[in-house]
Amino acid sequence: MSGVLIVGAGQGGFQLAASLREAGYAGPVRLLGEEPGLPYQRPPLSKAFLKGEADASQLELRPAAFYADHRIELLHGRAVAIERAARRVRLADGTALDYGHLVLATGARNRPLPVAGADLDGVFYLRTLADAQVLKARLAAARRVVVVGAGFIGLEFAAVARALGHDVTAVEATLHPMGRAVSQPMSAFFAEAHRAMGTRLALSAGVVALHGRDGAVTGVEVADGALRPGGGTVFPADLVVVGIGVVPNAELAAEAGLEVRNGIVVDETLATADPAISALGDAVSYPSVHAGLTVRLESVQNAVDQARCLAHRLTGKPAPYAAVPWFWSDQADLKLQIVGLAAPTDSAVLRGDPASRRFSVFRFHERRLTAIESVNRPADHMLGRRLLAGRPSLTPEEAADEGFELKSLLAR
Ligand code: NAI
Repeated sequence: MSGVLIVGAGQGGFQLAASLREAGYAGPVRLLGEEPGLPYQRPPLSKAFLKGEADASQLELRPAAFYADHRIELLHGRAVAIERAARRVRLADGTALDYGHLVLATGARNRPLPVAGADLDGVFYLRTLADAQVLKARLAAARRVVVVGAGFIGLEFAAVARALGHDVTAVEATLHPMGRAVSQPMSAFFAEAHRAMGTRLALSAGVVALHGRDGAVTGVEVADGALRPGGGTVFPADLVVVGIGVVPNAELAAEAGLEVRNGIVVDETLATADPAISALGDAVSYPSVHAGLTVRLESVQNAVDQARCLAHRLTGKPAPYAAVPWFWSDQADLKLQIVGLAAPTDSAVLRGDPASRRFSVFRFHERRLTAIESVNRPADHMLGRRLLAGRPSLTPEEAADEGFELKSLLAR
């Protein structure tokens, strides 16, 4: 049959199939997914879905008819090997799928908590719809909830759990919640906001063990920095959510002899070293024109824009991937939006008053704007997307001056 075979039916894999048709690709398109059902959106899983404001069918990216109408064949199964010479992908059930071009959109999986007790009943992860369904059902009966990892998952979940009236503790290994994604002032703002919501926040607290009774979790033991470095502080819990980051699903590529370094290595057109294999999304490391180095991004925007870029190449319109990265997170009434990529050492310039819960942090490398983090200030974010797509001339002094009209920069 050949045509394009896409392994991974998450946001990126789905988008590639849709964009190929949009770009006029006429050959066979097959989309192989490991999870049952139709491809769906993950972002609402940690928010609207858990709160009961959206059900599973509302998360579907498109209804079943879309796939038939666009001649996208949706297959379910797990790819276990790529036979590059024969241009075939072997599935766990022993069958094989041939390809003219193979695209790995395999995403990432949750990093497991590496301590004793992590397999106790009542310990959950949140990535798939199935994870969210189980968690939602069990959350209803829980009283004391402990979140391990104050990253995106941990804090979005903590906000929902507090809104539902649970007793919530968030345990974070570093001093900075969401420290992978935001500046220290933004991290500190969110730490304070979660405390104000009533969440107990234990920072610089590494989990050493989960405690249980009769197979069910009863508590999370942490080593809290200087106070009790050997452990000993136990937060009681009848439900634990672990959100300590992800690992890219790159084994399929590595075992097929493709280069893997913090993800599947691709060039600026998302090609691997094998001209018949490309890769996109959370699973890949690519050279970013914005960061000036190789990055692996975990975001919907990145998966969607890379899919569009690749669909163009596969239909004869190649262009390097250069979309401006952006991210968002909703936590209670706080809408965090991030555009651009900042290094941890980039400076942080405040625009607006955090006490008003409407402000932005502008990040600079020396005097060059690299990213903008906004809370409830969508205009700054949208403007940032336009600015960072070009060569922004904003100075740190202008960023800090609320009297300075950011919009005037577009005319410069
Ligand atoms: P994350 O990388 O955002 O946060 C993980 C946090 O766990 C970090 O703060 C880290 O310091 C901490 N941590 C690591 N090991 C720990 C340990 N042993 N004990 C305590 N803390 C520890 O990853 P997260 O939140 O798990 O998210 C998973 C994936 O889902 C990511 O790809 C993320 O981008 C995505 N996601 C994105 C959202 C968004 O963009 N709004 C929302 C939810 C998830």
